Amino acid sequence: MKNYDEVKRMTTHTFKAMKADGVKISMLTAYDFSMARILDEAGIDILLVGDSASNVMAGHETTLPITLDQMIYHASSVVRAVKRTFVVVDLPFGSYQGDEKAALRAAIRIMKESGAHGVKLEGGKEIEGSIKRILSAGVPVMGHLGLTPQSIYKFGTYVVRAKEEEEAQQLRKDAKLLEKLGCFGIVLEKIPAVLGQEVAESVGIPIIGIGGGNGVDGQVLVVHDMLGITKDFQPRFLRRYLDLFEEIKNAAAQYKTDVRSGDFPNEKEQY
Ligand code: KIV
Repeated sequence: MKNYDEVKRMTTHTFKAMKADGVKISMLTAYDFSMARILDEAGIDILLVGDSASNVMAGHETTLPITLDQMIYHASSVVRAVKRTFVVVDLPFGSYQGDEKAALRAAIRIMKESGAHGVKLEGGKEIEGSIKRILSAGVPVMGHLGLTPQSIYKFGTYVVRAKEEEEAQQLRKDAKLLEKLGCFGIVLEKIPAVLGQEVAESVGIPIIGIGGGNGVDGQVLVVHDMLGITKDFQPRFLRRYLDLFEEIKNAAAQYKTDVRSGDFPNEKEQY
């Protein structure tokens, strides 16, 4: 079987081949140059410039306030850092819902001004027109179903989605539709693991889960969450690999102590 770590540049074709070979796809969010450089060197397959930047970078409660210009700023910083990783950018709230031409304009701005490799949109049937329009311009599109944070005020809460049969049935249909339209992959957020596996087995494009269980084709996490930079957010699906909040806080406190005491800078640290 092919060694995907040796692939020089990840493409949508690589992801389809990985799914066919049963090789799981790793995806993390990134919003800035320095972090993207580390994640690219670590061999992460996809970097998502998520509209979660609205939460973790700007401190908003939801993803709704972030603008297209701000997404392009984050995306261009990430693109400048990567050599191998495929960069996908979220179309922000208000840039694609209900207006196909506006959706295409937004996607083209992202591709042209940031140099990203694809875009992600939240929703199924209701945004079919926008997806078709963007795909017709040759822009790779990733779908996002299940918990879609841009619709949080419609849902009212961040609880697990598609537990009821009616919503699960709609999600199955939407996943098939996104595949038929030509999306190269789908993020499934916060749904029952059995449904995640069922959807992954029913389509030929990769399904990337975030709280979608272990039976899907890959996983995505918000990088600030998995590194423990965020503190209070602790959903069941989140595995924290570091506790950077405490580590950074301790380092900053030590620095303050050293400055106060005159220990920093020492003789070797000055000219
Ligand atoms: O914006 C984001 O970070 C996302 C992930 C949660 C998939 O869409």
